Amino acid sequence: MFSTEFTQLTVKLNSPFTDQKPGTSGLRKSTLQFEETHYLESFIESILCSLPGVRGGVLVVGGDGRYGNKRAIDIIIRMAAAHGIQKVITTVDGILSTPAASNLIRINKAIGGIILSASHNPGGLEGDFGVKLNGSNGGPASESLTDEIYNYSKNLKEYKIIKCQSNNSFSLGKYKLASMIVEIIDGIDDYLDLMKRIFDFDLISSYINNDFPIVFDALNAVTGPYAKRLFVDHLGATAETVRNGIPLEDFGGLHPDPNLTYAKDLADLLLKGNLFSFGAACDGDGDRNMILGRGCFVNPSDSLAILAANYDCVPGYAKGLSGVARSMPTSSAVDVVAKHLGINCFETPTGWKFFGNLLDANQITLCGEESFGTGSDHVREKDGLWAVLFWLQILASKKKSVSEIMKNHWLFFGRHYYSRHDYESIPTEVANSLYSRLSNMLPTLIDESFAGRTIKNADDFSYTDPVDSSITLNQGLRILLDDGSRVLVRLSGTGTQGATLRVYFESFVPSDGDITQDPQLALDPLIKSIDSLAEISKRTGMSAPTVIT
Ligand code: G6P
Ligand code: ZN
Repeated sequence: MFSTEFTQLTVKLNSPFTDQKPGTSGLRKSTLQFEETHYLESFIESILCSLPGVRGGVLVVGGDGRYGNKRAIDIIIRMAAAHGIQKVITTVDGILSTPAASNLIRINKAIGGIILSASHNPGGLEGDFGVKLNGSNGGPASESLTDEIYNYSKNLKEYKIIKCQSNNSFSLGKYKLASMIVEIIDGIDDYLDLMKRIFDFDLISSYINNDFPIVFDALNAVTGPYAKRLFVDHLGATAETVRNGIPLEDFGGLHPDPNLTYAKDLADLLLKGNLFSFGAACDGDGDRNMILGRGCFVNPSDSLAILAANYDCVPGYAKGLSGVARSMPTSSAVDVVAKHLGINCFETPTGWKFFGNLLDANQITLCGEESFGTGSDHVREKDGLWAVLFWLQILASKKKSVSEIMKNHWLFFGRHYYSRHDYESIPTEVANSLYSRLSNMLPTLIDESFAGRTIKNADDFSYTDPVDSSITLNQGLRILLDDGSRVLVRLSGTGTQGATLRVYFESFVPSDGDITQDPQLALDPLIKSIDSLAEISKRTGMSAPTVIT
């Protein structure tokens, strides 16, 4: 892959970049920004100078196949060699999903991994690119490490890189660059082995091939090759099961975010048609999932609760759950299940990294977020295809449809009506002033009436990590009502254009109440009240959210 002749260069920067602050999930910018001379190199240098164990360590590198993926892997390999990494493990064509990367880091005892992805953001020259750093536990780097990297980048003067000829092929094998080994492996094998150890493939296979047709939409992103091997080769589903299954640099123009708006074709197949009994989709890098049944959509918060309630269907969790966790804006549906199971339920800030300590300390087995993420202690990332398999395992064990599973769940635990309204691409100043106005109002809201209820508490969520006692402040505005309903307001940490305001609504109806309503109608009083309190439509000029989930 690389010529034996090489030179090590130290490249000087004219001036440091001052905007390389990672957000909720890595450094995410427009593709064009990453094309700027030295931009990617600056961030990689800052990582390689901050991550513990670089000299002599093993590093996992791969990405979701979007535009810029291979170029970035090539640069990272050259810079890793210049920094004394002992081995880089990457994959055929550089294709590696985020959960599979997490697994590779763990099984190879790597010092960490660099995942090239802007997750669910569109790709291509007009889309976004991103660099995510994971630590040696396989999970997203801690905020203290990403802060250190950011501070390093702000003062960076130069970076080290190896220059040599390369044929730029990413085919299986072991290669050498300077004194570093580059091992190119199949990015799917180890992940499939892990899934086989957790789930009963025979049971799932016989169920889906016996009049329970499934469909999976990879949205032209990373999960295509994984899904084909999994569903078609291992579970015996037909080749047509996997739609949009070839990773494309621009995702074929699709927005690889598995929700009802961006995975509309799949949603229509399940919600309007009757060809399939089950449908699912994953995002750009394969960590998010959306689950659909015939005529029904599974809200991600309900999905987490249902997985927890049915853990004993899955061989990998037969010994029980140590605890569960959800992010603050995720509905409390899983809390009720945890109470029933007699296990702890933790409430964390938004972002998968906050589950890492709890998973490492074996305080939780399952965790999830409203943002279409669910996962377990099998890796340290959320895992889209794992969630799909978990659902299929429940369906195969119970021999029920998705809608029956949901209805039975609500009949037993009650229903947490839930919805998230997103206002995307609003001017940053508008979003910031709306948010700070509401934030300043919070102390005055207590005991006021709201949507026919009374506000019991209103605050900005803060979190004390139960494992290392670290404190994280300002994680989202909460309006908590006397009947247990909640309205939450956050600014997205993953967008690249203007600001995205997210408003989350939750209202509980006990099992003997009306569990059959349309969530938008059930939540309507909350929706109207926050609009008038926070002046959302007035200040944004938007009469409706851009995305409703
Ligand atoms: C990424 C993280 C998730 C998080 C989500 C929030 O997907 O991996 O853990 O829930 O971002 O995104 P937001 O845009 O709401 O900050
Ligand atoms: Zn993702």
